[in-house]
Amino acid sequence: MSWRYPLFDLDYGEEEKRAVIEVINSGWITQGPKTKEYEEKLAQYFGVEYALATSSGTTALHLTYLSAGIKPGDRVLVPSLTFVATVTPLIWIGAEPLFVDIHSLKYPNISPDEVERKARGAKAVVFVHYAGFYRFIDEVKDISDRYGLILIEDASHAIGTKIEGKFAGTFGLVGAFSTFTNKNLSTGEGGFLLTNDEKVYEKAKLLRSHGLTTSSYSKFTLGDTLYDVVDIGYNYRITEIQAALGIVQLEKLGEKNEKRCRLVKLYRELLSDKVLIPFDDYENSANYIFPVVLPEGISRDEVVRKLAEAGIQTSVHYPPVHKFSAMRSRFGELILPVTEEFSSRQLTLPLYPGLSEEDVSYIAETLLKAL
Ligand SMILES: Cc1ncc(COP(=O)(O)O)c(C=O)c1O
Repeated sequence: MSWRYPLFDLDYGEEEKRAVIEVINSGWITQGPKTKEYEEKLAQYFGVEYALATSSGTTALHLTYLSAGIKPGDRVLVPSLTFVATVTPLIWIGAEPLFVDIHSLKYPNISPDEVERKARGAKAVVFVHYAGFYRFIDEVKDISDRYGLILIEDASHAIGTKIEGKFAGTFGLVGAFSTFTNKNLSTGEGGFLLTNDEKVYEKAKLLRSHGLTTSSYSKFTLGDTLYDVVDIGYNYRITEIQAALGIVQLEKLGEKNEKRCRLVKLYRELLSDKVLIPFDDYENSANYIFPVVLPEGISRDEVVRKLAEAGIQTSVHYPPVHKFSAMRSRFGELILPVTEEFSSRQLTLPLYPGLSEEDVSYIAETLLKAL
């Protein structure tokens, strides 16, 4: 299918091409000096002690959970309105995800009241900044502190979201991010985690590469020959190509997020009378996606079809995780009424920095006509 307006369009320029060629010319393409430079730049940008780059957001989350001390049997509060990868690494560990409903259609982040209701006996809570919005992070942090829960952020949607000068992903013990192709910072595949906790960082770093005491790059540069394996780890390393892309993309992040913000402002002006637009504070959001909630009684399938006829790709963020077959067979038939209603009426419109204001107007008008 060729879309006039895809949901997302990659926004690479000459800088990314040059950065990749430079890595190839260097002759070293697996994790090495570029990765280190990328991590230092990430830590500096986000104002944390440590950043660790990984092969994906999913592997960043797996390392996050392991290094935060999540163990088999631990109960971890998670939203169901998220990408499944927030949850799957918990299942790999043998922890027990406890799905928590969202607050409301207007504020579809995890509900603080529901977190509090389920907090006793839980080990941790995972906060996902849906679409890039931080709403309730303070409340959930407060509950975590009162109940002794570990606060973890899956900040994959919130690369650049700021809460009174502090970045999303830096509120809890660890913040995990995806840099999958459609994210605000795009490296094709990739991810990273941020923390101020040295032990968490060291553990995640060790597990990223098989629990090895040395790396191929230090063997190459320092001549190390022998090594020990001091933990049972994984290969979650990033390549230098991804790291080089990440460095360029980080430089462009502020400017690209500003463009997203301008487009979202226009979308909101054009659509807010006719559809429910989640959250208010888009100016401090990374605006990863532009979700709307269709009026009750409208056939979403029909709307999707009409938009598709006009060349506009749409999506649903998200089918609830607790409704997937693999989850139902594991955890039984759960009911999260607000998540389910949101998911049944939600539609995501195209959003990426390459869209123009005319494009947004056309997409918004087409949606209004379809309604
Ligand atoms: C909220 C959330 N968590 C985790 C992930 C997984 O990231 P990745 O695809 O890089 O493994 C994504 C990716 O889309 C995501 O949106």
